[in-house]
Amino acid sequence: MDVFEVMGTARAIRYLRADPVQPELVEKLIWAATRASSPGNSQQWGFVVVTDADKKARIGGAIADAFSGTFRDPGPDADRSVRLMLRGAKALAEGLATAPVLILVCGRMAYPRGNPDELMVWSACYPAAQNLIVAARGLGLGATFTTFQRRAEHVVRETLGIPDDVRMAALIPIGWPDRPHGPVNRRPVDEVIHWEAWQG
Ligand SMILES: Cc1cc2nc3c(=O)[nH]c(=O)nc-3n(C[C@H](O)[C@H](O)[C@H](O)COP(=O)(O)O)c2cc1C
Repeated sequence: MDVFEVMGTARAIRYLRADPVQPELVEKLIWAATRASSPGNSQQWGFVVVTDADKKARIGGAIADAFSGTFRDPGPDADRSVRLMLRGAKALAEGLATAPVLILVCGRMAYPRGNPDELMVWSACYPAAQNLIVAARGLGLGATFTTFQRRAEHVVRETLGIPDDVRMAALIPIGWPDRPHGPVNRRPVDEVIHWEAWQG
């Protein structure tokens, strides 16, 4: 599939089938993630791949509990895509333990050497996470960029043995999609492009 078609249809897939994902495919995702750019090519990232049912249950349970009662119904007047997104996010958070694979994208506070800057951690992790999402789409896998780990940071750290100097940037559930991929809904280019100087 053409790379532009992959990027144009890599929408968040929040409903996943229970079928396992082969480890070779997971390794391909990590390969893609680690082709990303990072400040000074520092590459201070790490990807914790979780398939163990007990660990997923601990993490998923803690996140589901943290979200419990916090998703509000946007009401019938809300935009259809917003309603679908919130419903999907709720389903994903509640069913996280059933996702075949969880990938926690992490970054160590280690760049620049001697005076590490937090911004550099996020600057490395997010391009890697986006590469991973695009690669998943290319392989026909479903994935969603989430920051769910923030809701249960202590449990996630303890369950996965994440040290204090390692930041957690994204928790990405991966599996075979239970809903189709399709075009992403984004603002048109002519609304966001500013030739030569900022307009408006
Ligand atoms: C930094 C970041 C954090 C996100 N966090 C969540 C999240 O916690 N839960 C979720 O369901 N989606 C999350 N998303 C996915 C976005 O909600 C989603 O990409 C956006 O609504 C556009 O939908 P689409 O990608 O399907 O076109 C996140 C995306 C980014 C880039």
